[in-house]
Amino acid sequence: MNQNETKELVGRTAVDALVKSGMKLGLGTGSTALPAIRRVGELLAEGRLTNIFAVPTSFQTVIECENRGIPLFTLNSKEIGGKLDLTIDGADEVDPQNRCVKGGGGALLLEKIAAYASSSYALVVDESKLAENLGLSFAVPIEVVSEARIPVTMALEKLGAEVKLREALRKAGPVVTDHGNIILDIRFTSPVDPVAFEKELNLIPGVVENGFFTGASKYPFKPRVFIGHSGGTVETR
Ligand code: 5RP
Repeated sequence: MNQNETKELVGRTAVDALVKSGMKLGLGTGSTALPAIRRVGELLAEGRLTNIFAVPTSFQTVIECENRGIPLFTLNSKEIGGKLDLTIDGADEVDPQNRCVKGGGGALLLEKIAAYASSSYALVVDESKLAENLGLSFAVPIEVVSEARIPVTMALEKLGAEVKLREALRKAGPVVTDHGNIILDIRFTSPVDPVAFEKELNLIPGVVENGFFTGASKYPFKPRVFIGHSGGTVETR
C-alpha cells in the first residue's frame, strides 16, 4: 500500500472500531483524519450511525463535515456541554509511550482543547510517524500571538530550540492560524522531556499553545494509537 492508502485504511479502521451512535465526537485535522471523517459521513448516510454530535478541530474539518452532511457543534453547544466522548485525530510524531507532537496542519489549538476535553482519544497514524524521541526530527509547532514573535523566539532559543517562523505557501508572509496567530516551528538537537516542555512552553508570555500532547498537568491523556502499516495491517497500542 502507498502512504495515502495506508492513511485511508487506518482512519476508517479507527472509526469502525470506536464510533458508536449518539456519541459526542471530536474530529481531527489532516490527511489521516480526513478518511476517518469521510467514514463517519458514509456510516451516517447508510443509517448505520445515528445521532452523531461532531465537534471539528479546524476550518478544514468544518468544510469536510459540511460536505459529508455531518452535524456540527462546538464544545460550548448545549448538546455537547464541554465534554466529548471520543476524539479521533492524526499526529506528526508518536513516541513509544504514545505521547505525540501535533500541529503540522497548524490546528494544534483546537486539537489540544478537544483532546483534553475527551473521555477517550484515538490517534490515527501511518508507520512513518513513529519516533523514539519527540521534537528532534519533526519540528514542534508553537502557536504564538504575532505581536510576541521576537520575545517568544528569544525565550525559545534560551530553552535550546532552533526556531523557524512558518511561512505560508501561495501567500506572502507567515501562516496565520484559524485563530489569527502565527506558528513558530521549533526543533531540538538533543532529546527533551516532552512532559516538562508541554508545561514550560505555555508559560512564555505570548505563547497560545504548543504541539506537545502528553497529558501534562491534570488532564488524563491515554490515547489509543492506531498504526497503519504499508503491508495493509493496522496495529493498535
Ligand atoms: C494538524 C495535525 C495533524 O493531525 C497532523 O499534522 C498529522 O497530519 P497528517 O495526517 O496529514 O500527516 O496535527 O494540525
